[in-house]
Amino acid sequence: MFANILKEIDLLPDKLLSTPSVKLVRSWYIQSLKELIEFHQKSPDDQKVLSDFIDTLIRVRNRHHDVVPTMAQGVIEYKDTFKVDPVTNQNIQYFLDRFYMSRISTRMLMNQHTLLFDDKSGSGHPRHIGSIDPCCDVVEVVNDAYESAKMLCDQYYLTSPELKLTQVNGKAPGEPINIVYVPSHLFHMLFELFKNSMRATVEFQENSSTLSPVEVTVVLGKEDLAIKISDRGGGVPVRKIERLFSYMYSTAPRPNVDDSRNTPLAGFGYGLPISRLYAKYFQGDLNLYSICGYGTDAIIYLKALSTESIEKLPVFNKSASKHYQATSEADDWCVPSKDPKNMAKQSAAS
Ligand SMILES: Nc1ncnc2c1ncn2[C@@H]1O[C@H](COP(=O)(O)OP(=O)(O)OP(=O)(O)O)[C@@H](O)[C@H]1O
Ligand SMILES: [Mg+2]
Repeated sequence: MFANILKEIDLLPDKLLSTPSVKLVRSWYIQSLKELIEFHQKSPDDQKVLSDFIDTLIRVRNRHHDVVPTMAQGVIEYKDTFKVDPVTNQNIQYFLDRFYMSRISTRMLMNQHTLLFDDKSGSGHPRHIGSIDPCCDVVEVVNDAYESAKMLCDQYYLTSPELKLTQVNGKAPGEPINIVYVPSHLFHMLFELFKNSMRATVEFQENSSTLSPVEVTVVLGKEDLAIKISDRGGGVPVRKIERLFSYMYSTAPRPNVDDSRNTPLAGFGYGLPISRLYAKYFQGDLNLYSICGYGTDAIIYLKALSTESIEKLPVFNKSASKHYQATSEADDWCVPSKDPKNMAKQSAAS
């Protein structure tokens, strides 16, 4: 997986590759690949080798801790120096989705291995299998994520919207909703969505004396588990929805990378794209439906059955490399002229 992603890093635009941050990230991957390859010839029956392997995994995991903010910094450096054209934008989007997806997966594997085989790290939660909870209580994770986001929101705005939760177990009415899942992944997605909804609600309703609650509906169906988070935060125009999932745009002020003291309520604009990757990683999805002037519904879909929650991974092959050669082709839809013929009439009407 490391070799695959290194191959793909090398297909990035030269100008992005030459930024100090991307160079740094690339060097981490090379170093880790070297360290891990050492184990290829070693005997898996030797206890010493196994414990060295765990130490290496932990070292690799720590080395790669800051990959996301560092890569984000690289994209900012690129944006500051060069003009971004749609093709480059599309390539970077395609690459980062795959890059971060492979990161989610490697981290999951490394965590699994250290949690299961390392006696020093303790066994964690007794019910869990590594980081997987075979009986993950969805509503409990919703409440935890809400509380954590609320704490941040209170800290920033000195107020926060309430939570209104509805749960429907369509499979076993009245029973609690449990699925086989990685609670930390679910927490990550919910926490990001709550932060967004809270920020939107507080900012949109700053002049009203009470805040509309954030409404959450958790539904377990035969195939899907859906979690809908609805806010009255004023929504987003349809035209802008796609770009919310882009790594190249954010409306929040730029965070300072060195400022690790404060977790910002909104930062790089990576909340949504990374959360969607977590959802997709086990064959789920995350969608945003918004009504501009009113509010937003974010829906997380997960597979209700563990047999369908199979890892989704990028592979590096010819069709992957073709994506990076894509040029922008002529549009086969007509685009109305930006200048209406009769400007006087137009502006009088508006
Ligand atoms: N519920 C919402 N209502 C209104 N706007 C939203 C909502 N959710 C997201 N947005 C808009 O989408 C943008 C991107 O959201 P995203 O979570 O990806 O990044 P961010 O919140 O800016 O930064 P961070 O990386 O800290 O999450 C936000 O800046 C905000 O403008
Ligand atoms: Mg956010």
